[in-house]
Amino acid sequence: MRHLTTAFDVSGADLEHIFAVSEDLKAKFHKGLREPLLPGRVMALLFEKPSLRTRVSFEAGMIQLGGGTLFLGDDVGFGKRESVGDFCRVLSEFVDVIVARTFSHETIEQLAAHCTAAVVNGLSDLEHPCQAIADLFTMRERFGRLEGLKLAWVGDGNNVARSLAVACGKCGVAFAAACPEGYQLDEPFLAQLRSEVPGADVRQTSDPAVAVAGADVVYTDVWASMGQESEKEKRARDFAGFEVDVEMMARAATGAVFMHCLPAHRGEEVSAEVIDGPQSVVFQQAGNRMHAQKGILAWLLASQS
Ligand code: CP
Ligand code: NVA
Repeated sequence: MRHLTTAFDVSGADLEHIFAVSEDLKAKFHKGLREPLLPGRVMALLFEKPSLRTRVSFEAGMIQLGGGTLFLGDDVGFGKRESVGDFCRVLSEFVDVIVARTFSHETIEQLAAHCTAAVVNGLSDLEHPCQAIADLFTMRERFGRLEGLKLAWVGDGNNVARSLAVACGKCGVAFAAACPEGYQLDEPFLAQLRSEVPGADVRQTSDPAVAVAGADVVYTDVWASMGQESEKEKRARDFAGFEVDVEMMARAATGAVFMHCLPAHRGEEVSAEVIDGPQSVVFQQAGNRMHAQKGILAWLLASQS
């Protein structure tokens, strides 16, 4: 069974396939066509944290593909009424794919280990692969290519940063991270990336000006992710100087765009002038979550009986 637990699970060829299907389905969507590639297929969503984009884009996308969706609430008793193994074996009797959003990435791994249905990581503390796939789809749409682009990540070396670094490496996009000391991408992750994606151009600095120089995309995310709310004030101090503002954007390449996975905090990681300004593509980016989820679901499920 194919799962999507981290961005390492998709090859460059898989990504090209997902982008092509997403592009085709998006064009049809804008002509009013909803191609039912997955009739009768059922997706369950198991979410431990809030979500607007991931939840609704997956649900809307699956409905458009002719399938059905089940958002599982607390009453299913995940982790409480029976072992995870029993839960997974039973759920897999009913559904074709399980999209899970969890605090701990270990929970995603447990699901993938026990489910015979496909498991998709809809965000864990480690990775957010569906976000990265949709973001590269948006960059491809925006620039007409991916190979040779440069993305600057400014902020926390978090789940979104990890998935983007991997996906960028697989698509020939240079990835330059600027994170404060103590919030950088960790060495074991970078070692795995360099070993599994030998061609990846991944650099890290604590100086945003260095990362952003000549970048085609400047990307940031919240300084305190879900589950880190108690660290919010300390992080606000530690991330001083990391707000993406007009001066920072001016160091990027001509024609550079600003990206953010959302939700965003204006006046913290990004100024209102930038996120609401002409270089921002954040709503195209959010809208593309749905088109990319459709490509991901079709890639995972279309060839299965
Ligand atoms: N970007 C993203 O995953 O948003 P949600 O938390 O609303 O799903
Ligand atoms: N890094 C953020 C992303 C939200 C989509 C978080 O994990 O809360």
